[in-house]
Amino acid sequence: MNTQLITKLPTILDPTKMPQHVAAIMDGNGRWAKQQGLPRIAGHQQGANTVKSLLRCCKDWGIANFTVYAFSTENWGRPAVEVDFLMRLFEGLLDSELDQMHAEGVRIRFLGDRSQVPLGLQRMMDKSIDKTQYNQAVTFNIAINYGSRKEILQACKSIAELVKAGELDVNLLDESMFDRYLDTHELPDPDLLIRTSGEQRLSNFLLWQLAYTEIYITKTHWPDFSNDEFTLAIADFQQRNRRFGKV
Ligand code: FPP
Repeated sequence: MNTQLITKLPTILDPTKMPQHVAAIMDGNGRWAKQQGLPRIAGHQQGANTVKSLLRCCKDWGIANFTVYAFSTENWGRPAVEVDFLMRLFEGLLDSELDQMHAEGVRIRFLGDRSQVPLGLQRMMDKSIDKTQYNQAVTFNIAINYGSRKEILQACKSIAELVKAGELDVNLLDESMFDRYLDTHELPDPDLLIRTSGEQRLSNFLLWQLAYTEIYITKTHWPDFSNDEFTLAIADFQQRNRRFGKV
């Protein structure tokens, strides 16, 4: 990392110990809205502002990868009106923010099975990927219709097909080769996972990739997760002694 490129870094953070990949489970939008006496969708709308704000922090602070869990394979079980709102919100945000993100050097990628998402959103996803593919300031990964077990199973099926066709020797298969069949291929594993709203579980998010990730859980609801609390989460991460199974 070129620490000279980092701008506006909060003084409590050590520029030489910044995470290279931060992932977030953005929980608590609905509870936030309820507390404010607003409909659940208002929580998602406000949560989108948190995403924009943290993405800019990542860019300014030299965090190369930011990954958010926007919609899980299980979220289809929510009321149709909320699912519909979320799909429109994603499409609308990509549409309205794409030029600005591109101007700021954001490269957009998606995790998850896009075949089930509405066609309009799929088209916007393709456009975002194409337009931003050569940007380098920060890679923004959005998980839509993502489930980690499904992703791992799909990787296993692809590899099994290659073995069956005689194109891969199963004895040569190792972890780095397996990585290439996941939606996160070419991304480093997250250094830090943030989960808002207090729940202490992974909820089928990046199960393979989070093997050695440091986890930061806060009771704050996602719409209230500020740049200051992001700073505290990173400061907490910088205090951790990461041993990766060694002594
Ligand atoms: C979980 O909170 C949140 C979601 C399922 C949706 C997250 C979507 C956004 C923040 C919108 C913007 C995102 C992008 C990437 C543009 P919840 O509804 O489960 O909250 P609850 O547990 O309090 O009900």
